Amino acid sequence: MVPEAVCMSENQTGLPVHIGIIMDGNGRWAKKRGLPRKLGHKAGANTFREIARYANKIGIQYMTAYVFSTENWKRPKEEVDSIIELLRAYLNEMDGYAKENIRVRFLGDRTAFDQDIQQKMQRAEEKSASATGLNLSLAINYGGRAELVHAARKLAAAAAAGELSPSDIDEDMMGRYLYTCDLPDVDLIIRPSGEYRLSNFLIWQAAYAEYVFLDQVLWPDFKPATLDQALAEYQRRNRRFGGIG
Ligand code: FPP
Repeated sequence: MVPEAVCMSENQTGLPVHIGIIMDGNGRWAKKRGLPRKLGHKAGANTFREIARYANKIGIQYMTAYVFSTENWKRPKEEVDSIIELLRAYLNEMDGYAKENIRVRFLGDRTAFDQDIQQKMQRAEEKSASATGLNLSLAINYGGRAELVHAARKLAAAAAAGELSPSDIDEDMMGRYLYTCDLPDVDLIIRPSGEYRLSNFLIWQAAYAEYVFLDQVLWPDFKPATLDQALAEYQRRNRRFGGIG
């Protein structure tokens, strides 16, 4: 668990400690070009790679990207399969992250994926565990509500086993039962493509986040300069965490 001082503060540069990104707009990007949606996701995966490297370069400590939600299974099978294939290809190149000092984590229920994917996720996490640069998390088969249900079940089981009493449960303990147990709260959520919602992403962790919605950019067109623009907007905000500032 990260100390509270880290969870709820900017670092000394005024940058957010933890950025969440909802990578929206791949489908529209492809449609505008007369391409199949899967090529939009492919372009989106390339953008993700570039932005992760850039975030590491400028000293962002934590970045979490929404890759595949618990609701995305409702999409046509062909599209789901294409995203899983992209994930598989992406996992194959993940050894490079450890070399770039990027620590990788996966948030969500990974048991839904084939064994080889689960093994590759574990390998990427283990190989990069001692990296000290960007902490890069990929939310995959992730949903904020499912995460809370998962935590509630584990807490209930611990209580039923006599390991804790219901009155021991507080916000701190709840946080330790989430997939994000070793990440600080998210400071800034960025969503391109003109949609103004959280879509079940980090709903507990974003309780005091700032939101930057970018109307004019679809995720595949998101550039390092777009991240700079969102960071500048964040730096103009006055965060009070319920106080009077
Ligand atoms: C939302 O765009 C995007 C997704 C549901 C998938 C995000 C996946 C990627 C960026 C590619 C995979 C990445 C990795 C790292 C393997 P949308 O399809 O909802 O776009 P639309 O709203 O324009 O239709």
